[in-house]
Amino acid sequence: MATAGGGGGAGSEVRRTCLLFCFVPLLAGLCQANSVERKIYIPLNRTAPCVRLLNATHQIGCQSSISGDTGVIHVVEEEEDLKWVLTDGPNPPYMVLLEGKLFTRKLMEKLKGTQRISGLAVALSKPSPVDGFSPSVECPNDGFGIYSNSYGSEYAHCKQLKWNPEGNGLAYEDFDFPIFLLEDENETQVIKQCYWDHNRGVNGSAPAYPLCAMQLFSHMHAVTSTVTCMRRSAIQSTFSINPEVVCDPLADFNVWNTLNPLNASGKLEPGDKVIIAATRLDSRSFFWNVAPGAESAVGSFITQLAVAEALQKAPDVASLPRNVMFVFFQGETFDYIGSSRMVFDMEKGKFPVQLENIHSFVELGQVALRNSSDLWMHTDPMSQRDESIHTEVMYIYK
Ligand SMILES: *[C@@H]1O[C@H](CO)[C@@H](O)[C@H](O)[C@H]1NC(C)=O
Ligand SMILES: *[C@@H]1O[C@H](CO)[C@@H](O)[C@H](O)[C@H]1NC(C)=O
Ligand SMILES: *[C@@H]1O[C@H](CO)[C@@H](O)[C@H](O)[C@H]1NC(C)=O
Ligand SMILES: *[C@@H]1O[C@H](CO)[C@@H](O)[C@H](O)[C@H]1NC(C)=O
Ligand SMILES: *[C@@H]1O[C@H](CO)[C@@H](O)[C@H](O)[C@H]1NC(C)=O
Repeated sequence: MATAGGGGGAGSEVRRTCLLFCFVPLLAGLCQANSVERKIYIPLNRTAPCVRLLNATHQIGCQSSISGDTGVIHVVEEEEDLKWVLTDGPNPPYMVLLEGKLFTRKLMEKLKGTQRISGLAVALSKPSPVDGFSPSVECPNDGFGIYSNSYGSEYAHCKQLKWNPEGNGLAYEDFDFPIFLLEDENETQVIKQCYWDHNRGVNGSAPAYPLCAMQLFSHMHAVTSTVTCMRRSAIQSTFSINPEVVCDPLADFNVWNTLNPLNASGKLEPGDKVIIAATRLDSRSFFWNVAPGAESAVGSFITQLAVAEALQKAPDVASLPRNVMFVFFQGETFDYIGSSRMVFDMEKGKFPVQLENIHSFVELGQVALRNSSDLWMHTDPMSQRDESIHTEVMYIYK
């Protein structure tokens, strides 16, 4: 093992004698430039970072410092192994390699409360946890749904039912160290091997140098809140010769169409009613571009596309009593931004269909990849307080 230069001070010993792993983008340049680096670094090729997200008031997610974070690797396979990281180990900061099954709120809270760790790599949990896993909250998008303190308050804030009971809320926490997912078991094994070879002291004593370390790099410029970040972005692009994007707004498009043609430049007559069939296009996950939640979104929007195609082929489609509008909403995971925007446009008269043109609203949730063949249908108790609507809904049930 070769040595890389290091200055004086407490942390330098670790730096002087490290075998470094890292997230590729950092190393690509270095590796070509320096053959010593190439010998002591092994790039990790299949990783996914947890990223920084902002809302109007807060920041959530994770990032590394500007040049990446480095620490001595410690493998945590059982909860007891954490003691070394939190109190006993003599070489902090540590880079924790965590078994997927231990990626829980309880354990993450312990890691958040310490200065002794510089980053976390989570090994993919295989098989998936039997009890399920959700980094979202128990009551997702609370405060942005149709029920609020002024409408259906008895249903607001999941008072009747926590609809995501597994939710541990980790996706809404702010972490001050980088967190990565290791997607490839073989790469995880390479890291573990390095740990076993170099970082385990004999009979519980402190291990001797050289030690095996890991560097995680996922720096992002976004900080504090959307307001701060957009202001910095604006300053950057106004005064800088090489403007740097500090943060990107979450933006995309809703997709919609109707079964029978609509004059998109005009407006529907008040008596002209349409049925809206809606579904969502997005899902969110803790790690960038690793989206197990897509199963739910894809299952429902493919189904809706199939319905649209089948209905459009029906010979008597032009004579249907009501037009059907198919909508695919984007950004629903984040406070329903897609559907909220459409309603906003309808209210401002910037959309051919107005709110009073909506006869009924049907939303398709997860209809595929279920364990049983049961399908659930939920109706809105508030609108059914109107007797005629209640009768009509009951008719559909039969
Ligand atoms: C922003 O996110 C934080 C953390 O999830 C939350 O507590 C806060 O209410 C959010 N603010 C707004 C305006 O939605
Ligand atoms: C891991 O390595 C084994 C043996 O070299 C190989 O058969 C397997 O396909 C590899 N797995 C992945 C995910 O690359
Ligand atoms: C990642 O890919 C590089 C180049 O193919 C290889 O040298 C390196 O060993 C890989 N990393 C791991 C951890 O397998
Ligand atoms: C470790 O401990 C065991 C049992 O206490 C002992 O037999 C062994 O010699 C020790 N190894 C070293 C390297 O000290
Ligand atoms: C569509 O609506 C616009 C504005 O009301 C109107 O000028 C135009 O003639 C309409 N086109 C058709 C095909 O009805």
